[in-house]
Amino acid sequence: MAVGREHFGGRTAAILALAGSAIGLGNIWRFPYMVGQTGGAAFIIIYLAACLFLSLPIFLAEAIIGHRTHSGTFGAMEQLAPGTKWKWLGLLTVVSPLILLSYYSVVGGWSLGYLWQSVTSGFHASEIGTVTSAYGTFISEPWRPLLCHTLFLFGCAVIVSAGVKSGIEKFNKVTMPLLFVLIVLIMVYSLSLPGASAGVDYLVRPDFSKITPSGVAAAMGQSFFSLSLGVGTILTYASYIRKEENILATGLGTIGFDLMFALIAGFAIMPAVFAAGIEPGAGPGLIFETLPFIFAKMGVGAPVLSAVVAVIFFVTIVFAAFTSAISMYEVGVAYLVEQRGMSRHKATVLIFVGTWTLGALCSLSFGPLAETKIFGLSIFSFCDMLISNFLMTFGGLLFVLFVGWKMDKTAVRDEFTCGGTVRFNCIVFDAFWFLLRYIAPVAIVIIFFTNFFA
Ligand code: ALA
Repeated sequence: MAVGREHFGGRTAAILALAGSAIGLGNIWRFPYMVGQTGGAAFIIIYLAACLFLSLPIFLAEAIIGHRTHSGTFGAMEQLAPGTKWKWLGLLTVVSPLILLSYYSVVGGWSLGYLWQSVTSGFHASEIGTVTSAYGTFISEPWRPLLCHTLFLFGCAVIVSAGVKSGIEKFNKVTMPLLFVLIVLIMVYSLSLPGASAGVDYLVRPDFSKITPSGVAAAMGQSFFSLSLGVGTILTYASYIRKEENILATGLGTIGFDLMFALIAGFAIMPAVFAAGIEPGAGPGLIFETLPFIFAKMGVGAPVLSAVVAVIFFVTIVFAAFTSAISMYEVGVAYLVEQRGMSRHKATVLIFVGTWTLGALCSLSFGPLAETKIFGLSIFSFCDMLISNFLMTFGGLLFVLFVGWKMDKTAVRDEFTCGGTVRFNCIVFDAFWFLLRYIAPVAIVIIFFTNFFA
């Protein structure tokens, strides 16, 4: 381990940071809709299985590399496979989280903009009919979304430049429990609305006929995205976990929190959507059109309540986005500090400049740069497609192949079992090894092709 390298204070701090990286917009705008569309409770069972038997081994593969080397993605590959082509995996997983951060920050910025509106004027003041069209108008403007993107990214920079312990750990320790409290509050409120039961029914009604091969692939893909696999964030955060820590327990804790948050978010959003009598949807439209519409509708009879719920909701989204974005930011900073010898402060500034520029192009691609296309896609959609459909799965596949087929099995076992000291881990090691070597690569290739033809 590099002398003076920072680490997280303990298991709770590590799990909160990793859960912070995992819990993000994907849990809020994608999971609830997928559950409803793909078989309700039946999908949840498949999703749980995908988390345990697929995403957990991949998560652990990344974590083992980081924890073994106590180095960022590039340094880790150089340590474990010096002078080989594996360094390209190290570099790829420095670049891909930064592309992800660039456009994630644009959406994080929109959330900040909506939080500002919910605090200053609220949605109850809006004409119900104009709320949804306001979203299109807002994102196609050049200046306000750019300002929001700048503020969001600047917030990330401030947290990351404060360091692993004083910045990232402290922020997650405060934010993660708060996120759970807020989303539970929204859930309680949402479930109390007249007509909410239709939303509950949408989420839990099991429909096993929907569990088709594409439904299973969708569950696998969602658990992959939600856990931020394949982009080096897990590896980098795991490199800050103390040597003696149990990686399996950390992984199970992270997946447990991620799943719990996604489920609560489902019960916080869908009952309100159904109570308002609108069609559920997924993606940015759910957050920036459907929910403001609900707040505007609620505001007719109860403006104060509508304003309070809207503020709580957008605070939740902003913080969920922040905790994910800082993990992407940290991958780049760790690289510049460890491999290029920069100070953390300078590295933070450099990453800010790079990701701000790409993010600005993504932001402008909804307005002035709308006609600029890459393979027929806007700059924003191209970046999203490149990361979500290709680089995440590609990175995940390479990590799995590296740990399963290139790394020394004794070293992997040593990491997995804490040097043979944890009995439970020793018992389940063979199952992990089998899933990692044979099941995970095949499943990732299936996700890849499903995304490709989606
Ligand atoms: N895991 C992050 C999310 O769900 C990227 O938004």
